[in-house]
Amino acid sequence: MMARLRSSSLLLVSCIASCITMLGCGPLPGHPKPGPEVPRPDSVLDFATLYRQNCSACHGAGGMNGPSYPLANPKYQALVDEQFLHRVVANGEPGTLMPAFAISAGGSLTDEQVDALVHGMRAAWYKPGTLDGANPPPFRAAQAGNRMGDPAHGQQVYATYCSGCHGAAGQAGKSKAGSITEPAFLALVSDQTLRTVIIAGRPDIGQPDWRNVLPGHPMSDQEVTDVVAWLSSQRAGASEATQKQPDGQKKGGGGLP
Ligand code: HEC
Ligand code: HEC
Repeated sequence: MMARLRSSSLLLVSCIASCITMLGCGPLPGHPKPGPEVPRPDSVLDFATLYRQNCSACHGAGGMNGPSYPLANPKYQALVDEQFLHRVVANGEPGTLMPAFAISAGGSLTDEQVDALVHGMRAAWYKPGTLDGANPPPFRAAQAGNRMGDPAHGQQVYATYCSGCHGAAGQAGKSKAGSITEPAFLALVSDQTLRTVIIAGRPDIGQPDWRNVLPGHPMSDQEVTDVVAWLSSQRAGASEATQKQPDGQKKGGGGLP
């Protein structure tokens, strides 16, 4: 199972390359500009085209099964709103692989194109009533109050809620799902992404949501916060090792810059 995680991590890294191609370079000298019959890139307002060109390499074709979070998960869409999506798409998630797309933030998309992406995601993937009366923990760490996570308690939370599928810490290979305590995996995933995965689940790979990790025992905000704090403390960046890496990985960040 680690093989799957590793290969998805590699995919994520390979996104940088495609991303540079997508976002970085204008026409090379000597290369013809698009002729009049080719629409100017900033006039494209079709959601499917914009999503395929800008997002699918990382978030998966159709919003599922990519190396980064599956945005088509209806539970995820029920937890966020348009304002939030707009902010993340326009400005990116600083310190992670999520790029800023708005021209005003150094990206290549106009405000109309960012709007088209946000409205398109909502129309395609938001299903009203998905969370029906459920009371999920705040999915953004920043909304989850100011208390710091307690890693010691988080280790107990892991044993209660996660080890049944992911195995006891350090026991990779004997369990139903892959290890999530390996520093190599944790180095590539931010605390926010861990929080998102735990609360909204990943239907594309079989990760249950916060209500179903242990059916009948929905996880509390405190339990989510603490298990993320414990996982974070297992990251290579939590020791000195990663802080010395030349590529600017930082403790608690989203991996590569
Ligand atoms: C180079 C890879 C890459 C590309 C391209 C990319 N993303 Fe992301 N995106 C990420 C990563 C990595 C994260 C997780 C950031 C973090 O660690 O918090 C993310 C996070 C997000 C989030 C927040 C997820 C959460 O946990 O709440 C949204 C929304 C999002 N991306 C939308 C988009 C959209 C829409 C596009 C296309 C316009 C796009 N992304 C393109 C890598 C990418
Ligand atoms: C019912 C089984 C089950 C339980 C319980 C469970 N998971 Fe998972 N989890 C999975 C499966 C299946 C996958 C996908 C396959 C894999 O990664 O091995 C997964 C994947 C993950 C991933 C990787 C997501 C990614 O983007 O690659 C994370 C992080 C994760 N789980 C965290 C947790 C945490 C934290 C808990 C406890 C709060 C937990 N899981 C409990 C089954 C489970």
